[in-house]
Amino acid sequence: MKNLNIRSWIIAALVSISFSATADATKDKENLYEHGNKMHANHCLKCHTDDVYTRDNRFVKSLNALTRQVTRCKNNTGVPWYDKDTEAVVHFLNEKYYKF
Ligand code: HEC
Repeated sequence: MKNLNIRSWIIAALVSISFSATADATKDKENLYEHGNKMHANHCLKCHTDDVYTRDNRFVKSLNALTRQVTRCKNNTGVPWYDKDTEAVVHFLNEKYYKF
């Protein structure tokens, strides 16, 4: 009986740890999306609107190409972004428009 109690306690603890890890991961994704959304709105609508992401002849065809294009545009813009910021904008554009 004693053993059983310990075992169920351990199982309960493991389950709650894995639940909170999932919740954290979801929260991280939301934060990344929101951060990307903000960075994009502040810096990326100077030369083109978001129509370029949905036009018929858009040239970005993969997640890799999207990362390269965001980096290229970022470098042209001269914004001092960290890799984390670029990553957030790639995530945001992919979730909202490209869906690779
Ligand atoms: C200095 C001007 C300029 C700025 C600022 C700029 N871009 Fe661009 N971007 C361009 C040009 C030019 C193109 C190519 C458009 C075309 O071919 O019609 C382009 C195209 C793109 C594409 C590819 C669209 C497709 O066809 O799939 C993406 C993605 C993109 N930009 C993302 C960004 C992001 C993210 C930012 C903010 C860091 C940004 N751009 C800021 C000039 C800019």
